[in-house]
Parts: sequence; C-alpha cells; structure tokens
Amino acid sequence: MSSSLNAAAVLVPLDALPPDGLHECEAGIDGDVESLILYRDPAGAVRAWLNVCPHAGRRLDFAPGKFLRSKTGELVCAVHGATFELAHGDCIAGPCRGDCLRAVPVHVADGQVRLGEGG
Ligand code: FES
Repeated sequence: MSSSLNAAAVLVPLDALPPDGLHECEAGIDGDVESLILYRDPAGAVRAWLNVCPHAGRRLDFAPGKFLRSKTGELVCAVHGATFELAHGDCIAGPCRGDCLRAVPVHVADGQVRLGEGG
C-alpha cells in the first residue's frame, strides 16, 4: 500500500549504511545537485551534511564516498585535515576549528533514508 511518506526523495536504502558508517550520495537541493555525507550513528540515527568543507569549500572525500576517519572516529577532510565530530558536524581541529558542516534534514521511512524532516 502506498503512503504519502513516499513523496520524500529516497537517498539510499538504510541497509547501505552500516552502524558508524559514512556514505556519499547526490541529491537535488534547491534546484542544484549536491553531494551529501550520510552518517548512521552507532545507535542507528542517520544524519546528513553537505559534502562541502567550511574551510575552502572542497569535498571532504578523497574519492567519491571514500572518507578519512581519525583514530577516534571523527571525519577528517582529505584536503587540509579539518576534523569534524559526527554528532553535530562541528569542526574540532584543523584550519576551520569552530566552524561546522551544513546539516541537511533526512529521515528514515520504510527502510529508506529520505530527504526532509519526515512526518
Ligand atoms: S578544504 Fe577541508 S580542510 Fe581545507
């Protein structure tokens, strides 16, 4: 049976995101195709940010979907090494310390990660 929830754009199946896993995908946002960073935390919640580093506006991955992590699990920008915690996307070390990634609202419905706040 279909539901109105299905109107939200599907980004990836939830199964594509293992716990504590990072994933890259593209989505149409405000008329532009943007690269997104998806993160599923160990408790199962999914967060997303634009794949744009606040330091110099570059992508954070060194190849599509290939992200660097610190020894303690933070996301490290492959360009100049800015380090971001994954609870909020705040930069905790490196050239843009104190800045943060731009969050994109996502939700999980019917086993799919979807764009938007959900209902
Ligand atoms: S562009 Fe990410 S640290 Fe410089």
